[in-house]
Amino acid sequence: MTESVPAAPLLTVNDLSMAFPIRRGVFKRTVGQLRAVDGVDLTITEGETLGLVGESGCGKTTLGRCIVRSYRPTSGRMQYRTAAGSSVEVAELSGEPLRDYQREVRLIFQDPFSSLNPRMTLRDLVGEPLRTHKIATGSELDDRVAEMLRKVGLRPDYLRRYPHAFSGGERQRVNIARALILQPRLVIADEAVSALDVSVRAQILNLLRDLQEEFRLTYLFISHDLSVVEYLCDRTAVMYLGRIVEQGPTRELFRAPRHPYTEALLGSVPRPDPDLRGQGRRKHLAEDLPDPGHPPSGCRFHTRCPYRRPQRCADESPELGATPGDRTVACHFADQLELTGIAPHHPEEEVPVP
Ligand SMILES: Nc1ncnc2c1ncn2[C@@H]1O[C@H](COP(=O)(O)OP(=O)(O)OP(=O)(O)O)[C@@H](O)[C@H]1O
Ligand SMILES: [Mg+2]
Repeated sequence: MTESVPAAPLLTVNDLSMAFPIRRGVFKRTVGQLRAVDGVDLTITEGETLGLVGESGCGKTTLGRCIVRSYRPTSGRMQYRTAAGSSVEVAELSGEPLRDYQREVRLIFQDPFSSLNPRMTLRDLVGEPLRTHKIATGSELDDRVAEMLRKVGLRPDYLRRYPHAFSGGERQRVNIARALILQPRLVIADEAVSALDVSVRAQILNLLRDLQEEFRLTYLFISHDLSVVEYLCDRTAVMYLGRIVEQGPTRELFRAPRHPYTEALLGSVPRPDPDLRGQGRRKHLAEDLPDPGHPPSGCRFHTRCPYRRPQRCADESPELGATPGDRTVACHFADQLELTGIAPHHPEEEVPVP
């Protein structure tokens, strides 16, 4: 966690939606829309690490891809403050301004095994963004790639090698080098350590922290591993079926959740001492995640919520509203519930062992 976080928003997302067509039958006719992201509000502050958590299929990757603009969102706004200090509307960008934006906002891919082309050397893999953005070629490109390899803990003389020669952790370092070679300001890490062994995971998390300090990076860290988010993230946003249901400083959100879904997610975090798990009051998620193509009416969580009340929860969709302590929550009864969180787990520098 960074020591002091400047308060300026780097990216402000408002009412963002991304719908995919649902196709059926031999002729692949469109029979409906799956709103993978459905009215998301989110603020990413300069210099922070914001965690984005939620069950598989809730829309985390889709949101990340809208932010890096590999998807053009269906509707909504994303205000980004550029290095030059001007404000741009990201959802509308195209051509040269879009390329400029995509230099500053980069994605680290999830899977260290499938995301690297086996026929490209490390020089070409890491140097590719320099070439496509026409920043460097030839020996200058070599120098910059070698320098970047050093920064991510790989030997510069690996330049001519192919990715198959490397372990999972080393490949993820290559992915990180690729993401950082253009000196971005905002980095979206989508399950960047999920595929790695526990010991390697800790090394990569520490590398991400070191690089954040060195390059003054802002991270959106997408993960369904709450232990990792607890360790790394200053603030956390909780996503459920395309919406943000709660957002706030990680420590407080974990200690005292205000949305029943956050409470339920925290119930799955491993803790060595069962006494820390809420004195047996913990609520578990009973049913499976509903079909994202046909989300429940009203509050989307009401079908699984142990605190739901008739009829309001089934009828009325709660807004994401501000509550004290820099926290937002979307629950009709947030101020009446006493929810159970989890006690802080680790001394400051300990790395999580899931
Ligand atoms: N290109 C696409 N076309 C159609 N549907 C899609 C597409 N990408 C994602 N979806 C659907 O959108 C929903 C959200 O998917 P997404 O990959 O964003 O979830 P996620 O939170 O990243 O899940 P995971 O934790 O498994 O990575 C899912 O129901 C998924 O099937
Ligand atoms: Mg995903």
